[in-house]
Amino acid sequence: MALTIPQGVGWTALVVSAQRAAESRRPDALFRDPVAEALVDTIGEAAVAAAPDPDHDGTGEDALTRVMGDFLPVRTCFFDRLVTEHPTAQVVILAAGLDGRAYRLERPAGTVFYEVDVPEVLAFRDAVAGDLTPTVEHRSVAIDLREDWPAALLAAGFDPTRPTTWLVEGLLIYLPADAADLLLDRLTGLSAPGSAIGVEYADRDPAAAMSGVAGDDPGARRFADLVDAGPRDTPARWLGSRGWTVEESTVREQAALVGREVPVVMDPDRGGMDAWLARARR
Ligand SMILES: C[S@@+](CC[C@H](N)C(=O)[O-])C[C@H]1O[C@@H](n2cnc3c(N)ncnc32)[C@H](O)[C@@H]1O
Repeated sequence: MALTIPQGVGWTALVVSAQRAAESRRPDALFRDPVAEALVDTIGEAAVAAAPDPDHDGTGEDALTRVMGDFLPVRTCFFDRLVTEHPTAQVVILAAGLDGRAYRLERPAGTVFYEVDVPEVLAFRDAVAGDLTPTVEHRSVAIDLREDWPAALLAAGFDPTRPTTWLVEGLLIYLPADAADLLLDRLTGLSAPGSAIGVEYADRDPAAAMSGVAGDDPGARRFADLVDAGPRDTPARWLGSRGWTVEESTVREQAALVGREVPVVMDPDRGGMDAWLARARR
């Protein structure tokens, strides 16, 4: 199959999906992601070539996997729990990438997932997902989040008078602080009472932290070079200042919940950065 591999920050969607494929194949897998497995099955070597240098230091493991450890599966479980524990008829996945939830989470009839990302990434995901059968209705909202994505979401059928569950996973570290603020302001304006949000949230200087761990590995550096400032404040203050009631938890706490290790880069006690997975309601 001739597929155009997304470039720039879109490429990171393949990297994290490949890590979910690796998790899916573990005997003690925390979940199985059919889209991630289809990614690796469909483009095989190309998927590996799209990931960070698989053997830069001769260990046979790509640099990001070494650096991120079990973080990706821990993060996936955190957002899965938000969807299942806070059931709403509308779920909006911002920067959806190759998100496989519409193919693996069973939701009540009538639930709609809105998946927002740039057109080339969503087209790539659709091509990879091919003949897989969705478990829930899902609608693509193909737009750059720097553009008027609320209008695109409304045009896709989103109803701002009904409660929504928002997933902001793997996005904030790629945004300048002002863009993160604008995203949250717009999202808050579309959130009826009873809405919830989940965010993955790194240190106040994630670009420096990621650059520090990338070393001279070309793949990890390619990733680190895409990282920007992210929001200016801790999740509690950032979300709290917009009227959200925040339940902050660290990546370390979330890793413990599913019996996995926190990677060093996200463990402040071992020299890593502060990193959170936070939920909030309004
Ligand atoms: C690391 S991936 C995360 C994808 C998905 N949330 C996941 O966890 O698997 C980052 C995603 O952010 C998307 N993204 C970054 N900036 C964006 C923007 N300005 N507009 C739309 N999507 C954006 C990229 O296209 C990519 O799919």
